[in-house]
Amino acid sequence: MYLSAHHFGYAQVGAVVARTLSLAWKIPIIPVNHCVGHIEMGRLITGADNPVVLYVSGGNTQVISYSNRKYRIFGETIDIAVGNCLDRFARVLNLPNNPSPGYNIEQLAKKGAKLFDLPYCVKGMDVSLSGILSLIEKKAPQVIASGEYTREDMCFSLQETVFAMLVEITERAMAHTGSRELLIVGGVGCNMRLQEMAKAMCEERGAHIFATDERFCIDNGAMIARAGELMLEAGLKTDVSKATFTQRYRTDQVNLVLLLLAADFSGWLLLRILGAEHLAAKHGTCTEAVHAMAMWVAMTSTLPIVLNLATLVVLALTVWQVKKVKKLCEGITSSTHWLSRSSVRVGIGSSAKRALNEYARGRPEFALLVDKSE
Ligand SMILES: [Fe+2]
Repeated sequence: MYLSAHHFGYAQVGAVVARTLSLAWKIPIIPVNHCVGHIEMGRLITGADNPVVLYVSGGNTQVISYSNRKYRIFGETIDIAVGNCLDRFARVLNLPNNPSPGYNIEQLAKKGAKLFDLPYCVKGMDVSLSGILSLIEKKAPQVIASGEYTREDMCFSLQETVFAMLVEITERAMAHTGSRELLIVGGVGCNMRLQEMAKAMCEERGAHIFATDERFCIDNGAMIARAGELMLEAGLKTDVSKATFTQRYRTDQVNLVLLLLAADFSGWLLLRILGAEHLAAKHGTCTEAVHAMAMWVAMTSTLPIVLNLATLVVLALTVWQVKKVKKLCEGITSSTHWLSRSSVRVGIGSSAKRALNEYARGRPEFALLVDKSE
C-alpha cells in the first residue's frame, strides 16, 4: 500500500484498506517511513553506498546522513518545503499543474537571464523559504507588469536562489561527514538545474553525485515497497492494531539496526537466532523492537572483544610465570655446579662423588655436574 506523504485524508483511508487487506489475506503489515523509502529507493537505483542525502520535495527539505544506526538530519527547512515554495509561486504565475507546477517553473527558468535580488536565507545548517516566497509573491506581479523582469526571469531567480541555499548546506554536511557521495531524492530532485548545481559542487570536492529521474524521484509505490521489503527481511511485522499513520514520523526517528542487519548474511543469521519477529510482536512497534535488538547487537559484538582481551591477559601472566621459573632453575643449576666444583676442589670422597654423578646423570638440568671422566 503506497500513500503520498501530504495527503492526510488519503492516508487515513489507505491505512484502513491496508489493515483490512492484512487481516483478510493474513499477510504481514509494515508501516514504512516515507523519507526512508525515498532514500532506500535512491540507493537501490543508483548504487550509492553511504551518501549524504538531499531530500527535496513538496513536503520535505532535509539534508541527511547516516550515522550511528540512524539517518541523522544535518539541516532542514525551518518553515516550508522547497517544493511547496516553487508550487505556490507557480500559482502566482497561473502555471498549469500538468505535469507538475515545479516542472513548468523549471522550463520557464531555462529562458530567464536577469536575476531578481531575493533574500538568501541560510541559518546555520538550516534554510528558511517562507520569507522568500512572501517577497516574490508580492513583487513578481509588479515587476512583471512594469516590464522590468519577465516571468522567465522570476522563475530563474527563485530557482537560482533557493537551490544555491540547498547546495550550500549540503556541501557543509558533506564536509562535516567527509562523505564523497551525494544522493538527491524527492520530487524536486529531478529538477535538472538543481542536479547541475549540485554536480558542480560535487566535482569541486572530488565527490560523486547520484540522482534519479522522475520515475523514482517523485513519490512512488516502489519506494515504499523497497523500504517494506527491507523491514520484512529484518523480520519486522507490526501488530495490525498499531499499524496507523503519522505525519510526524521524522527520518531520524527510524532506527536502522534491523534494516542494516538484514542486508548481510551474518546479520540475517543473528536476527533468526534472536527472533526479531518475536521481539517485534512483543514490543508492538518496529522502533521499540529495534531498540531492544540494539542491546543484543551491542552485546554480541562486544563479547568476542572481551574474551580476546581476557585470553591476552592469561597469556601474559603465563609468560611471566614461565620466565620466573626459568630464572629459578638457572640459579639452582649454577649453585649446584659451584657446590660440586668446590667439593672436588676440597676433595670429597669417591663414593660421594659417584652418588652425585648418578643423581645428576638422569637430570638434564644438572648436566653440568656430570663428571664425564667417570
Ligand atoms: Fe515524498
